[in-house]
Amino acid sequence: MSGLIRHLLSLDDLTTEEITLLIKAAINYKNKMGKDISYKAQGKILGMIFEKPSTRTRISFESAMIKLGGGVCFMTSQSLQLSRGEPICDTARVLSGYLDCLVIRTYAQSIVEEMAKRSSIPIINGLTDLYHPCQAISDVMTVVENFGDDLSKIKIAWIGDGNNVCNSWIQIASKLGFELHIATPCGYEPRHDILENAMKEAKAPIIVCNDPLLAAQGASVINTDVWLSMGEENKEEKKEAFKHFQVNNMLVALAKNDCIVLHCLPAHRGEEITDDVIEGENSRIWEQAENKMYTHMAIIEWLMGL
Ligand code: CP
Ligand code: NVA
Repeated sequence: MSGLIRHLLSLDDLTTEEITLLIKAAINYKNKMGKDISYKAQGKILGMIFEKPSTRTRISFESAMIKLGGGVCFMTSQSLQLSRGEPICDTARVLSGYLDCLVIRTYAQSIVEEMAKRSSIPIINGLTDLYHPCQAISDVMTVVENFGDDLSKIKIAWIGDGNNVCNSWIQIASKLGFELHIATPCGYEPRHDILENAMKEAKAPIIVCNDPLLAAQGASVINTDVWLSMGEENKEEKKEAFKHFQVNNMLVALAKNDCIVLHCLPAHRGEEITDDVIEGENSRIWEQAENKMYTHMAIIEWLMGL
């Protein structure tokens, strides 16, 4: 891809083939761990601007870049002149001269879009209020590890909020052609335009309902996320609407015997998911978290054209 700068702002930036190749490359990196990994990123620098906290995305991107032989420069927006009003367009132009790729975690999707427009290096969305594309790719990697790469026969359930992670799951379901059943409380469904766009391309149904039991029935994957996302900490009353949307043993019993349970973490044990499900035999949550690093190695390699 030399000469052409690509960004990963949402899964709409990738074709089906590209997502499939990234997942294969990530699995390949996982299989090679501890053996020879060439230092493809030697001399390159990955910048990271995070306006929200992060354990997994930050450290897995940092580890991924270091394992590839490159360096990392972590910034909070508070530590940059952005916090004193320097425009995004100027920041983007200046950082493009120092860095080879930039991961941004922020609030509005328009911020990563503006940054991409003004940068001459690839921009990666490390989570916005609207999307979490890298998360969905590594989550699907975990599904592929467990069920193989033909996802056309399996049912995947999303139980909980129609949030940023859910939106990225909608986009990846549409691109890869698997059945996605989303159950949210009334009023917390995913955005209509995101669903509508995804459904135009989808090769398998994407169904939204308000019944978690229906969504979980016969599912091979049960996926969930927090009820209150970052930035919603003051919306405690929202939790009331979600009290029947907990992933517990009763819900998991409705799914297939060999179903796997996913949660992007951080989890609020006892709210959206119970302790015994997190620690239970169907849980693949720890593998899912680890897989973020291999996915990020594949994403860095691809976007930087290494
Ligand atoms: N899953 C995820 O993105 O976790 P962090 O918020 O810790 O990065
Ligand atoms: N929906 C969650 C995901 C965290 C990784 C949030 O935005 O806080």
